Amino acid sequence: MQKHIAVLAGDGIGPEITDGAVHVLKAVADKFRHTFTFESLPIGGCAIDACGEPLPAHTVERCLASDSVLLGAVGGPKWDALPGDKRPEKGLLGIRKAMGLYSNIRPARLWRALADASPLKRELIEDGIEIVVVRELTGGIYFGKRGSFADEEMGETAWDTEQYSVKEIERITRIACELARKRSGRVISVDKANVLETSRLWRRTVHTFAQMHYPDVTVTDMLVDNAAMQIVKDPAQFDVLLTSNMFGDILSDEAAQVTGSIGMLASSSLGDTPCGLYEPIHGSAPDIAGRDAANPIATILAAAMMLRDSFGMTKEYAAVEHAVEEVLGEGWRTADISSAGTHTIGCREMARRIAEHI
Ligand code: IPM
Ligand code: MG
Repeated sequence: MQKHIAVLAGDGIGPEITDGAVHVLKAVADKFRHTFTFESLPIGGCAIDACGEPLPAHTVERCLASDSVLLGAVGGPKWDALPGDKRPEKGLLGIRKAMGLYSNIRPARLWRALADASPLKRELIEDGIEIVVVRELTGGIYFGKRGSFADEEMGETAWDTEQYSVKEIERITRIACELARKRSGRVISVDKANVLETSRLWRRTVHTFAQMHYPDVTVTDMLVDNAAMQIVKDPAQFDVLLTSNMFGDILSDEAAQVTGSIGMLASSSLGDTPCGLYEPIHGSAPDIAGRDAANPIATILAAAMMLRDSFGMTKEYAAVEHAVEEVLGEGWRTADISSAGTHTIGCREMARRIAEHI
């Protein structure tokens, strides 16, 4: 197959980790006789520096014209003082919205070789961890109206709003239920229905929709504060976790860390077409940028998800996952996942070793 991939490296460690993933994708193309072409485009802070805005129109156009998009990370201290709508993060939110990517899948699994890196006690992770966060990605408080004003009594005051429609909730519920059907048949839906009106609509809609279209899937509700606690108390109880945009952002970082390192978690973002956006869930880690110390595995696994979910290449996906398993099994680690008795290597060498195992 011939596929054209847009590469949005972004800021901080973004260029290093996307280089690593592209290296692995080239190895996949060689082995399985595909032709992948790559096109680098600016987004985030580097786009602000080069073009004066975090998401140049040309980047959006080229992403929409590609078969799929690979993204590194955006943001950094250099751009922290900019107003909200000019920040690098606005570029990421903008491309998600422009491509209509309402469904964000974030699988958090415990890699056998990395059990020592989990901060949880052994007995809590004995049964393994296989949580898939299904996060709504183009609605909620991330995209609601916001503003600030000077209050006479209280001083400077700011506000954000959360808004959800039945249609938005239904389409992400469908994604979660489809996934659950291929897995345990269970969905845990997260909300704050004891306080928020949007959560009450969320809860009602999830149940009505699931009962009507997925009577075979069991949906239970969990309040978000309880979910945050349960993830560290008993992570094995979770399979598919359905969340709003903000709750998914928060809980996916937590789920990632209990599996060992946020440097291992990939994510796919899709809408109603096969053209998706694939990225690690972690950020741009400015503190280690340019030092060849980042973990490229989350981005490599994101590239693998692209092969499977946008291109239908299941064998190729499995080959990448297997290569990661083998390299970890041989004891190679980047600094974030190293432990006694393992060998610490840099970002480039990690990617090279994984590519060699394809
Ligand atoms: C993520 C990130 C982004 C988000 C930021 C960088 C805007 O934290 O993908 O989880 O909040 O969605
Ligand atoms: Mg996040």
